[in-house]
Amino acid sequence: MSLRLERADKADIPKLVDLYFETFKSPLVLRVKPDVPPVREWYKKSLESDIEKPYSRIYKVVEGQAEPEQASDEIIAFGKWSSPHTEPPQDKPTEFPADGDAALFEEVVGKATEKKKKIMGEEEYWYLGVLATLPKHQRRGAGSLLMTEFCKQADEAGHRSYVEASPHGKPTYQRFAFEMRDTFSVVIDGEPYVDCCMVREPQRPL
Ligand SMILES: CC(C)(COP(=O)(O)OP(=O)(O)OC[C@H]1O[C@@H](n2cnc3c(N)ncnc32)[C@H](O)[C@@H]1OP(=O)(O)O)[C@@H](O)C(=O)NCCC(=O)NCCS
Repeated sequence: MSLRLERADKADIPKLVDLYFETFKSPLVLRVKPDVPPVREWYKKSLESDIEKPYSRIYKVVEGQAEPEQASDEIIAFGKWSSPHTEPPQDKPTEFPADGDAALFEEVVGKATEKKKKIMGEEEYWYLGVLATLPKHQRRGAGSLLMTEFCKQADEAGHRSYVEASPHGKPTYQRFAFEMRDTFSVVIDGEPYVDCCMVREPQRPL
């Protein structure tokens, strides 16, 4: 069965939230964003805010049936990224839900931001924030469809790209010419959890 890539819209957000919590099961995500209603609501609000931002792009992958009446409305993968922008000042930051580990969240965001600044400096770059395929649909090419669109947009703009890669995501990013520049880690239940800071140079058409 073929797959189809489409821009997601606001009506897709509840499904994107389900997909996110069904897919991200790393020790870090389970600790920072446990799958409980207040954390789901917080994540839903953050997607609703992101989808309105002019520099933010959310794409989904669905089954690409030839006949519309056979089409499934299941979203099997999604990606979220942003084009270069200056972060507008937030009126009122959305409060992190009490059920999540706010201290660990802040530690991760702090370390990730520091490395990103050190590696990318003041230059303009594309930022890949989320890439997720439902476990039962992995290894069918959905992640590659999203990555192909992301790379096309960054290449057309001629900018470098940046991602913080989980151990699970790293091979996919390497396939799309992302290179590891650094790492940062946090300790979860006595075990180190390491994320990779990866950069991709824009590619020129052959
Ligand atoms: C990382 C992730 C998004 C990849 O998504 P995916 O849809 O499985 O990606 P693809 O199917 O395009 O590629 C995965 C593998 O399947 C292979 N593949 C692609 N199409 C295929 C097909 N039709 N048949 C068989 N294999 C296929 C790819 O070559 C790739 O192989 P490799 O791992 O040996 O390089 C997915 O594993 C995921 O959501 N993981 C959990 C969340 C996560 O960690 N995300 C990254 C956050 S930084």
